[in-house]
Amino acid sequence: MIVRVPVVLDAVQLAELLSRLHAAAWEDGRVTAGHQSAPVKHNLQLPQDAPAAREAGETVVRALERNALFISAALPRHVYPPLFNRYEPGMGFGDHVDNAVRQIPGTHHRLRIDVSATLFLSAPADYDGGELMIEDTFGTHSVKLDAGDMVVYPASSRHSVAPVTRGTRLAAFFWVQSMVREDADRSLLFELDSAIRQLSGAAGAGAAREPLLQLTACYHNLLRRWALL
Ligand code: NI
Repeated sequence: MIVRVPVVLDAVQLAELLSRLHAAAWEDGRVTAGHQSAPVKHNLQLPQDAPAAREAGETVVRALERNALFISAALPRHVYPPLFNRYEPGMGFGDHVDNAVRQIPGTHHRLRIDVSATLFLSAPADYDGGELMIEDTFGTHSVKLDAGDMVVYPASSRHSVAPVTRGTRLAAFFWVQSMVREDADRSLLFELDSAIRQLSGAAGAGAAREPLLQLTACYHNLLRRWALL
């Protein structure tokens, strides 16, 4: 399931975050790449322990905690501290799959990586290329979103970032250990939650009250069956 989450950051939050990033020192992105992806990864990254990265990461995490659509789609158990990358002309990231397990830096805490996310920070008009290409059974999806919008997709997907040919592409990216491990199960819960929300808004306390209660019970009882805590 590939889901677009619009306006994770508003214009004010975005401007503040970008000014932090512009002032920061960047390093070669290969520092967090595994054996498989290092040869195809060509970008810049903020050092994970840099104060700018931590502060910007906290801004993103606070925004995620308030975002109902993200929570419904990812059902997060743990969120890896967001990282930031930058692509200049000639830079890109070839086909790869994200690591299955990651240790949170400075801790012994390891996450199983179920969901990958990219939060676009540059306006699409400001750069050419730089599309996030995500493969699933229907083919390859090209994703290039407005600044402040985010895409979440299964960490099991092959994906790449097309070479940037003009301008600068800035993004935050991070991973999620979900309460629900299987993408198909998360998709089902996401659909059900979305239907319940729409019906609740439309029907209120009318005749749909009883079936809405039944659907809500199904949602929670499926989550109870699948949630890994
Ligand atoms: Ni990746």
